[in-house]
Amino acid sequence: MKLTVTGTGYLGATHAICMAELGHEVLGVDISAERIAALNEGRVPFHEPGLADALTRSLATGRLSFTTDIAAAADFADTHFLTVGTPQHSEGRSADLSQVHGAVTALARHLHGRHLIIGKSTVPVGTAADLRRMLNQLTGPDTTVDIAWNPEFLREGHAVRDTLHPDRIVLGVAPGSTAESTVRDIYARTLADDGTPFLVTDLETAELVKGAANAFLATKISFINAIAEVCERSGADVTQLADALGHDTRIGRRFLGAGLGFGGGCLPKDIRAFASRAEQLGATGIPGLLGHVDEINLRQRRSVIDTVTDSFDGDVTGRRVSVLGVAFKPDSDDIRDSPALAIAGSLSRSGAQVTVHDPEAMGPASRILPELGYAPTPLDALRGAEVVVLATEWRDFIDLDPVAARDVVDRPFIIDGRNCLPVEAWIGAGWDYRGMGRRF
Ligand code: UDX
Repeated sequence: MKLTVTGTGYLGATHAICMAELGHEVLGVDISAERIAALNEGRVPFHEPGLADALTRSLATGRLSFTTDIAAAADFADTHFLTVGTPQHSEGRSADLSQVHGAVTALARHLHGRHLIIGKSTVPVGTAADLRRMLNQLTGPDTTVDIAWNPEFLREGHAVRDTLHPDRIVLGVAPGSTAESTVRDIYARTLADDGTPFLVTDLETAELVKGAANAFLATKISFINAIAEVCERSGADVTQLADALGHDTRIGRRFLGAGLGFGGGCLPKDIRAFASRAEQLGATGIPGLLGHVDEINLRQRRSVIDTVTDSFDGDVTGRRVSVLGVAFKPDSDDIRDSPALAIAGSLSRSGAQVTVHDPEAMGPASRILPELGYAPTPLDALRGAEVVVLATEWRDFIDLDPVAARDVVDRPFIIDGRNCLPVEAWIGAGWDYRGMGRRF
């Protein structure tokens, strides 16, 4: 099938490449000439395991190309995915829909005949219905544009797998729409090979599924972090507690990892936008709940900053702190709303000499916080440190030799912000080890 994908950020670039992998002919569109040039040359502008290889393969087949010309997209196909960003508004918590409106307006101007726009971006409920009304006004009498919503649930670091083998496909359609059969054709291989559940619903429910999924995941993380605080104050261990909870299949162990909490380009801004939209609609439960979830999440970062500061009797000026990790999670170079970078930045602003290491994200971090020290290896980051904060659970850090690490620091004090280190080995090597909500 011939498809276009407008917006080639994390979601769109991955989606365009994976649709080509499924055998479709795909044209990716973006307003950034730099991004389009990179993709056409086979370069993925962010770190995502497996994506660069998939891009090279698809470009070689001739089934995938990228352009800045939206008119070309209107000519190329009659099915158009919308994958632009919906960041948090610069003022307030709501989603900024300017990219969604901009892309739909630009595309609509060039459409003639029958077209289908399939939204994948995370949007506030009601957006698709608004776009439907907008499209009616923007297009001429010779043109019909149907709109459907097909939310994306991919995780960074697993984006290719999540796109090619999703655990469900959700599709919201307007009354009388024929989008379902088109979307079934697009994902035919996935549906046949994996038996993926395919849920068809109205536009509003499809939009809300994504918001609700993110809200639930964020709540689960903040729940365990709130429990971690009780553990810490009572001498219990949150890791063993989470293991015990996880055996209850109604609860499950995943997303019960206590620590520095959630960050990234999705969960934080999506729960704020979800709460803001619920508030607009007069629904009071979700804004209250998610306000607490957000607050508990941010408190985790503050508690680590306080532990570091207390270890220096309240003054970090000139003290040497090593932060392992700046990405918001491993296998990613994404530093958006990263707990790791927030901690490093805050301690540095308070006067500490902060040195960091991250296997992938030091480039993006150094553009935002050039005042931090950037060490080429984990051991270089630890050299002379008086406190070490493990902030992102990269394999390289989990595998660090605690004895070798002990030999290069000034004071062997480590805060394991992700509860991921083998505790006995670190304590055995002479470290003062502090977990999050743990006995140690
Ligand atoms: C998330 C959703 O998982 C995905 O479905 C949605 O499409 C986009 O947002 P992503 O941002 O890639 O994906 O990250 P995810 O793996 O969900 O982790 C989010 C954050 O939660 C990370 O900062 C991670 O460190 C943190 N986390 C995760 C915890 O603190 N504890 C856990 O147990 C799990």
